[in-house]
Amino acid sequence: MENAVRKLLDAAGREIAGSGDDLEALSELRVRYLGRKGELAQLFKQLGGVADADRPKIGKLLNEAKIELEGLLSAAQDRGKEKVLDRREPFDVTVPGRRPQAGRLHPITQITREISKIFHQLGFETVEGPEVELDYYNFEALNIPKDHPARDMQDTFYISDDVVLRTQTSPLQIRTMEKRRPPIRIIGPGRTYRCDSDVTHSPMFHQVEGLMVGEDISFGDLKGILTIFIHQMFGSDIGLRFRPSFFPFTEPSAEVDMQCVMCKGKGCRVCSQTGWLEILGSGMVDPEVFKMVGYDPEEVTGFAFGMGIERVAMLKYGIDDLRLFYENDLRFLRQF
Ligand code: DAH
Repeated sequence: MENAVRKLLDAAGREIAGSGDDLEALSELRVRYLGRKGELAQLFKQLGGVADADRPKIGKLLNEAKIELEGLLSAAQDRGKEKVLDRREPFDVTVPGRRPQAGRLHPITQITREISKIFHQLGFETVEGPEVELDYYNFEALNIPKDHPARDMQDTFYISDDVVLRTQTSPLQIRTMEKRRPPIRIIGPGRTYRCDSDVTHSPMFHQVEGLMVGEDISFGDLKGILTIFIHQMFGSDIGLRFRPSFFPFTEPSAEVDMQCVMCKGKGCRVCSQTGWLEILGSGMVDPEVFKMVGYDPEEVTGFAFGMGIERVAMLKYGIDDLRLFYENDLRFLRQF
């Protein structure tokens, strides 16, 4: 028996060494020697026939042989696996990686966030409202009754007699004042719709509304806040002028012009040689509007403003066709 064990170990040892650590050969050897019906198992079977006195010694010998074989095979298999890995193409760590294609924010989203950030720093809070809006909020409550000529200023998409696609973000003023009491400091960015389309008009576009209401809010506050905004957005060297205008929901009203960002006021194609660009509409909230939301115009005052976000983006980036924003041409969008 002892001899048989030694012979088996010798033979197995030689075969394992001769396998060249080939994984397939090794797994065959494992079956042949250590398998359930393998050569070692055969020897274990003969243990019953060994004399009682010798059985413990032989049993121990067999167990040790099993452990030794196990060790030899495992070591050879580990080496075999290493060799397989080594045979693969060497990995060149200096080859530049392939960049995954990352998306980015649409320029309109970027500008909206930039505008919002400036006003947030001034204590304004963002509000939202529906794009499919009641005629009441879009017009009536803003002091634009049904037969008012000011309705002609805006080419409205009517859903029904009482429902429109909002033509401006100004209804956010009413919705906010109905829900809250002063002091109020909000901005409301969002989509707006008008039946109009050319190089500077799109049926869907974006506006930001602003509203500040409280005790003793003055035209000086309006000028101060809007001046800070334009200087932060376009640079502190940009000149401004507040030009008298008319909006049904503000009195007095002013349109704000800024010096042309292209020619810095000298006159060029972008500003039609005037040196000035109109950037937003604004004014002191009309007492009639306060009455619509149940505020006492003797107690509170406020100012409001509204601007087109595409227009801000066009001026900021020097873009002369608004439709570029919506064509989703990646060559255009990637520039921002
Ligand atoms: N809603 C106006 C428009 O779309 C813009 C505007 C003007 C908004 C004056 C205001 C404002 O809040 O005070 O033309």
